[in-house]
Amino acid sequence: MTAWVFIDGEVVPGDRAMIPVFDRGFLYGDSVYEVLRTYRGVPVWLDDHLGRLRTSGERLGFDRFPPLEAVGDAVTRTLRRADAEAATATDWYIRIVVTRGGGPVALAPSLAEAPRLLVLVKELTAPAAALYERGIGLAIVDIVRNPAGALDPAAKSGNYLNNILALRQALARGADEALMCNVDGFVSEGASSNVFVVREGILHTPPTEAGILHGITRSKVLALAKASGMGAVEDDLSPADVRGADEVFISSSVRELMPVTRIDDDVVGDGAPGEATRRLHAAYRAAIEQQVRRSAP
Ligand code: PDD
Repeated sequence: MTAWVFIDGEVVPGDRAMIPVFDRGFLYGDSVYEVLRTYRGVPVWLDDHLGRLRTSGERLGFDRFPPLEAVGDAVTRTLRRADAEAATATDWYIRIVVTRGGGPVALAPSLAEAPRLLVLVKELTAPAAALYERGIGLAIVDIVRNPAGALDPAAKSGNYLNNILALRQALARGADEALMCNVDGFVSEGASSNVFVVREGILHTPPTEAGILHGITRSKVLALAKASGMGAVEDDLSPADVRGADEVFISSSVRELMPVTRIDDDVVGDGAPGEATRRLHAAYRAAIEQQVRRSAP
């Protein structure tokens, strides 16, 4: 696997990137992160991701944070190195991590030394085209999504155990992604995706108050649906609403819009990816194409 990492001010090959064991990101998951990808070399929606990274830091009370300009520069430098060393043009998965830093082994955040910035760039493995034709399976798991009052899902923190436990259960049940509910029993989100349903031509997705990551793809999809004249509402969904929907899909930066055709033992709609999902996915790809054209050198 080809990977390059910006760490402590330098870009190094992935297998030489080391993090001290005293870093709080390692010890406690005391970090925030972002995942995005390139399209024809362009990191798409980078400013949105940088903004959310900063907001995640604020939500977790990171009182020192690398300037976003420096984070953007680190992304550019790592991509430049990866592109220069790649045998053929390829697209990249980009993971930006800011940890609260190193320090003594003790919980108090004030003991953290200085935030540590890391940018990991590796070859992208996008979902196979066949998956978009066939759709994936979700399992509605009984691991409850962290309530905002405990660890706010709106902060994309490096502590992903809630999501890992949910995915573990979904995979054990033969599904591809987990769907979690919140403490009130309403649907929140996937282990690493947001969820949408289409009912009678109208798009529905859980509101931010349901306790979700404010997905960048989610916000683009909502805007595209509204612009296209398709109704789009953020409202509470029960598991039965999702099971009984005409169409279901998940969204994330790497998977874009992925149709869901099975939920546990139920088939969604007629069992094939739906027309509205296809249309929205095409609109999403067109929006990306526009952004790539605008940013290409
Ligand atoms: N995850 N919800 C959760 C819990 C996520 O981890 C993600 C993304 C999303 C979708 O957000 P966005 O559209 O901004 O990518 C929703 C990334 C892909 C990851 O952790 O790999």
